[in-house]
Amino acid sequence: MIDQKPPNKIVHHATPGIAEVQFVLGIETSCDETAAAVVSGSNNVLSSVISSQVDLHARYGGVVPEVASRAHVEMLTPVIAQAVVEAGLNDGDIQAVAATAGPGLIGALLVGVSAAKSLALIWDVPFVAVNHLEAHLYSSFLEEPDLELPMVILLVSGGHTLLVLMEAFGKYRLIGQTLDDAAGEAFDKVARFMDLGYPGGPVIDHLAITGNPVAVAFPRPMHDDGYDFSFSGLKTAVINHMRKNPNSDVADVAASFQEAVVDVLIHKARKAAQQFGAKGLCLSGGVAANSLLRERLLNVCNEDSIRGFLPSRSMCTDNAAMVAAVGWHRLHLDGPSPLDSGADPNLALPLLT
Ligand code: KG4
Ligand code: ZN
Repeated sequence: MIDQKPPNKIVHHATPGIAEVQFVLGIETSCDETAAAVVSGSNNVLSSVISSQVDLHARYGGVVPEVASRAHVEMLTPVIAQAVVEAGLNDGDIQAVAATAGPGLIGALLVGVSAAKSLALIWDVPFVAVNHLEAHLYSSFLEEPDLELPMVILLVSGGHTLLVLMEAFGKYRLIGQTLDDAAGEAFDKVARFMDLGYPGGPVIDHLAITGNPVAVAFPRPMHDDGYDFSFSGLKTAVINHMRKNPNSDVADVAASFQEAVVDVLIHKARKAAQQFGAKGLCLSGGVAANSLLRERLLNVCNEDSIRGFLPSRSMCTDNAAMVAAVGWHRLHLDGPSPLDSGADPNLALPLLT
């Protein structure tokens, strides 16, 4: 007997000119979050779905690239479907598909980019390759579209520590960056050494509440030395302290380490905002969830009478709403990306020269 399958559903897309594109599907798979979101225009988030792989990687004490790629393959299709449904739309309403093309883990990036290109091809809509760092820099505008520019943005995550002056959308000056470990990486490595689990940032943040931040005088690397950062020596100082003083109070060490990291981050961000005449200072990236960093940022902004903006935790970490919104902007500025463009694990932020 011949199996009578219903014909495949054919999705007909109205194909608007690029200037009319409103509904953009964004896909984010650069590291260990599988995310999809739909935005309307430059900042109206209709849905944002994030499937975190953190539990999968916790047992290894860090992100395992091959495990991440496989989990993205498994989760991406249902995550995209959920994002479209939660936006109250049908596949046929999506007018462009944007995906993070780098920087990130190459295998993980390829899953998202390949899915985005396939959907763009099937739906006959433009594909847009998005820079993950630009997406983080833009994320605050999804929650506060009226932020005034120029603004200094401190982007602190597990993979990046950047101090950037944003003059307009797409116009960025790199003020400083880490010369070795990223801020989140330092939190994770210190926590791993102290057997506190993964990811380390939230655990140290929590422990520090009951610790004494002046118990151990850890170094403030490069505090008065330009705008670049270095956290590797500080991490080693914590490890050496623990080796020499195995009975140290863990909460005191956590609080003293966190104090040193936040001191340096805030000192440089504030100095940059003053030097470059920024109207505001804001945070992005996973470490932006740190309670001391958030508190200190608002304090210095109040003292200097500039705007301090703290995005919500879900907007700080990797998400696809920021990717879709930057995709919308890039599509209107530069047009679609070619379908033969690839993923680049080292993709650089486009900078003003
Ligand atoms: O942006 P994100 O989710 O992923 C990428 O690295 O791209 O950032 C994760 C990083 C981890 O290193 C984690 O330990 C750190 O952000 N983190 C924190 C806190 N929450 C997350 N670091 C300090 N304090 C926190 N509350
Ligand atoms: Zn990120």
